[in-house]
Amino acid sequence: MGQITLDKVTKKFGDVQVIPPLDLTIEEGEFVVFVGPSGCGKSTLLRLIAGLEDVSSGQIRIDGKDATAIPPSKRGLAMVFQSYALYPHMSVRKNIAFPLRMAGLSKEEQDKKVMAAASVLNLTDYLERKPGQLSGGQRQRVAIGRSIVREPAAFLFDEPLSNLDAALRVNMRLEISELHNSLKTTMIYVTHDQVEAMTMADKIVVLRAGNIEQVGGPLELYQRPRNTFVAGFIGSPKMNLIEGTEAAKHNAKTIGIRPEHIGISPTEGTWKGRIGVSEHLGSDTFFHVHDTGLADTITVRAGGEVNLRHGNTIYLTPEADKMHRFGADGLRID
Ligand SMILES: Nc1ncnc2c1ncn2[C@@H]1O[C@H](COP(=O)(O)OP(=O)(O)OP(=O)(O)O)[C@@H](O)[C@H]1O
Ligand SMILES: [Mg+2]
Repeated sequence: MGQITLDKVTKKFGDVQVIPPLDLTIEEGEFVVFVGPSGCGKSTLLRLIAGLEDVSSGQIRIDGKDATAIPPSKRGLAMVFQSYALYPHMSVRKNIAFPLRMAGLSKEEQDKKVMAAASVLNLTDYLERKPGQLSGGQRQRVAIGRSIVREPAAFLFDEPLSNLDAALRVNMRLEISELHNSLKTTMIYVTHDQVEAMTMADKIVVLRAGNIEQVGGPLELYQRPRNTFVAGFIGSPKMNLIEGTEAAKHNAKTIGIRPEHIGISPTEGTWKGRIGVSEHLGSDTFFHVHDTGLADTITVRAGGEVNLRHGNTIYLTPEADKMHRFGADGLRID
């Protein structure tokens, strides 16, 4: 259960087409992440799958059955939103049990499912509390709990962590990944945070203006981006993209080299530059290098204890076999 197929799906708001014809298959049990810049259509696509928006044309199939005209409540999918609308006057237990009560399950069946969900989500000790007495992360887990008990064919998450602080985001990211490992239910997860995408996904769908730019595993996208857009989007800090004569030497319109694939030396190397801002993260240092004549800034990753100062002249050496080449059409050249 939980295979979802989009077949030439389009969406127009008035005259504006936000999703041009789009084909995508999400396999049973997969963790798929939709990423892309703000406004590219991630939420729209998720809402189309959920049935919260009607497609303008095309077909959505769930487990092989045409679901295009099926209302959201009958699709067997659970949507977890960024703002987790819990009932403030109800305990955690009642919040999680709510959909089961609505479905008319017996008290015993409700209890059994609530306890199972609470155990998976580490909420067993909080069942009698009200949402107001919980942290943001705990509330998020209650919202997920309310979806789990319905045993959906797939979970749909729209930026569920964006209200949380950085540390909690990392925690919840791991928890959702663990949840996926234990439930093995299809999950579709929308984010514009490419670190979330890289760490959580089996498959990443990179969107731009409603178009799928590339679909693939995190490392596939990192190692072989199909075009300059994906090259610049996946990876943090971003891949350095260089045009002009340096690219022409490699028979390309654009060459790309990631910050981690450039060596830095005070005495020798291929490109000469000057250190601008340095970001010392402890484990790594990112140097922003200027005056190379290649691009405004070349970002380089070095070890944690490299001592170079603002204004120092340095030399950079790209690893030849880690260089990406792109043509005038922006597409990768192999
Ligand atoms: N109900 C609507 N009516 C008209 N236009 C809409 C509607 N909903 C979304 N849009 C437009 O569709 C496009 C895609 O919006 P969507 O919310 O899917 O983007 P997104 O990728 O989720 O962005 P974000 O990362 O900011 O959440 C945007 O240009 C948006 O303005
Ligand atoms: Mg959105």
